[in-house]
Amino acid sequence: MTTKEYVLRLLEEHKGSPLSGSQIAAKLGVSRAAVWKAVQSLLDCGYPITAANNRGYCLEATSDILSCESILPYLHNPAFYPEIRVLDSVDSTNQEAKKCAHNGAPSGTVILAEQQTAGRGRLGRSFYSPAGSGIYLSVIFRLDFPIDVSLLLTSAAAVAVCRAIRSVTGLEAQIKWVNDIYLDGKKICGILTEASMNFENQQLEYLVVGIGINVRTGSFPPEIGKVATALEPHLEGQRISRSELIGAVLNELETVLNQLENQDFLEEYRERSFVLGKRISVITPQESYPAVAQALNNQGHLIVQREDNGETAVLNTGEISIRRLEA
Ligand code: BTN
Repeated sequence: MTTKEYVLRLLEEHKGSPLSGSQIAAKLGVSRAAVWKAVQSLLDCGYPITAANNRGYCLEATSDILSCESILPYLHNPAFYPEIRVLDSVDSTNQEAKKCAHNGAPSGTVILAEQQTAGRGRLGRSFYSPAGSGIYLSVIFRLDFPIDVSLLLTSAAAVAVCRAIRSVTGLEAQIKWVNDIYLDGKKICGILTEASMNFENQQLEYLVVGIGINVRTGSFPPEIGKVATALEPHLEGQRISRSELIGAVLNELETVLNQLENQDFLEEYRERSFVLGKRISVITPQESYPAVAQALNNQGHLIVQREDNGETAVLNTGEISIRRLEA
């Protein structure tokens, strides 16, 4: 780790409180001149650091620049995430994570970006990912579970994000099957899970869980604005630290991974679902039909009763929409 990274880590750990140059120098075993140089370099990168006479350096409490150092103070078990990489801009953090996984990156590698130029959503859609206002996060997992257990990670990640949102903001989000997160009827988060399969041993080589959260997105393009919203507009002026929310998501992901086998998270998924019991439209590549969403089974599949022919169908993927009451 470079002196600059060490200095940033200390400033992030004491965000909002000053640390003297000599305190930092003593902790790191470097000269005060080296600390000064590191702080200048951080200022050049845009970090809001004030240097007060006799009080030392202070990273403003509102600093929201993402870095490994800004996230680490929030992690309960940093060793679970051996590498956290933050990119300024990338086509898609999921694509980047898949490249890293292909090149042998270990389980728990996290890829984040300030913006995505080609953010990817489910079913070939795009995910709007403007700079500095959202969280665009992908995590590589290599799991030893049987495939059907590993695939529960998609639903488990939705619960993890809801828990993280509650712990940081107090807001109770809801889940639209499969794994869209909603607040007040509009989408605030999408999750795209991708996997690479080893056909020889019939095991998943790795999974990439990609999570996009609209934190303070000011304005959406009109077609997205009708269905999407961000967290901060629901918080009456409270500003969210993206690093804190990312830390909370990573902590909760670790927790739900430990609940995959016993499916403990599924009850919360069902409670947070605003689909169960509703009249919906099911949209598959082959057909669309009206149905009632009846239950979520222990594999995370949605059980629906078709309204056109009365048959029961078990959906493992796909798209549904809630039907409005006809006037
Ligand atoms: C969806 O809404 O259909 C899923 C959206 C998933 C978006 C996230 S942002 C981080 C990761 N990288 C991507 O390209 N997509 C996911």
